Amino acid sequence: MTIQDKKQLPSLEALFQPYTNGALSLSNRLVMAPMTRGFAPGGVPGADVAAYYRRQAENGIGLIVTEGTVINHPASSANPNWPSFFGAEALEGWSRVVAEVHEAGGKIIPQLWHLGTARKVGSLPNPEVLPAGPSGLDAQGEKVNEPLTESEIADLIEAYAQAAADAQSTGFDGIELHGAHGYLIDQFFWERTNQRTDKYGGDLVARTRFAVEVVQAIRQKVGPDFPIVFRFSQWKGADYSAKLVQTPEELEQFLAPLSDAGVDIFHASTRQFWQPEFEGSPLNLAGWTKKLTGKPVITVGSVALENDFAEHPERIQRLADILEQGEADLVAIGRSLLANPEWASKVRSHNTDDWATYDAKILATLN
Ligand code: FNR
Repeated sequence: MTIQDKKQLPSLEALFQPYTNGALSLSNRLVMAPMTRGFAPGGVPGADVAAYYRRQAENGIGLIVTEGTVINHPASSANPNWPSFFGAEALEGWSRVVAEVHEAGGKIIPQLWHLGTARKVGSLPNPEVLPAGPSGLDAQGEKVNEPLTESEIADLIEAYAQAAADAQSTGFDGIELHGAHGYLIDQFFWERTNQRTDKYGGDLVARTRFAVEVVQAIRQKVGPDFPIVFRFSQWKGADYSAKLVQTPEELEQFLAPLSDAGVDIFHASTRQFWQPEFEGSPLNLAGWTKKLTGKPVITVGSVALENDFAEHPERIQRLADILEQGEADLVAIGRSLLANPEWASKVRSHNTDDWATYDAKILATLN
């Protein structure tokens, strides 16, 4: 790319402006998207995990959302190398992570996760425990267990709330609830996996009740000022074409109870941020979420995954417009951040000639 071409690229300087919302003060608009890595043997994040997140903060990421970290429930995980968010050892590991990130000037929130029936039968670390979900159905509609009872649901809500309280006492800057991609919380949202006829099932609003009660229970434990980020998506890991809602009206019905329950920031997970969510408007899912709730939003999805600076300048322009017009407040980056650890400085200086394309092979080491 010539210097002349680079001058014509839209400025992404808006990405580097500070951001404050309530108790959350960030040095810029860059968010590390939550990404499972599997480097926490026995569920305990060690010094290498702390160094990994510290590098992100040193490299200029304003807010780190950790990889999904599982809540205290026997069926929450499916891999003994995924980090736990309970137990003295794991929480001590996390407090080292927080200390390193804070020392480097960054902010960090854990993503609280339960797999629900996305967990395969027989998975470690508790192979004898069956997967748990609202109706005991997996994403294909196969029955893998009995539906959760109301008392089991109450225990799960308490487990999320305890994890959030632990995040607060460990020094995290907030929490993110993983309500996306077809895991437990999303299984309550989705008709295919939630066929309950009690108060946790039924129409779209009734299907938000579990998540609403989780948010309320957390709010009660952490007080009014501890930030709660809520990640949700239309797509599911097992079905990219799935949709929770078809229209802006339905999206509003879905979001209003969550917003009222006390979500501070919505993280609208899409696979390509430039795709309009509904016909007749360029707004993506994050843009619509902000318009309908008035709450701050994080947008995400293939941001500069390829060398968009050279090959898809229109995507860079769209990102610039989204920030400029306030359609999103924060921008999360996943794969291209792993491929380009110096993402922030490369983008800020327009030094994108040697942009690296993501290759899943890099997941083999904690780069
Ligand atoms: C992910 N993603 C993800 N999402 C999430 O909510 N919790 C998680 O633990 C993970 N884990 C994860 C691992 C890996 C290796 C990848 C590549 C992705 C999804 C991720 O947060 C993000 O939404 C997508 O990757 C889209 O953003 P990019 O990668 O296109 O910038």
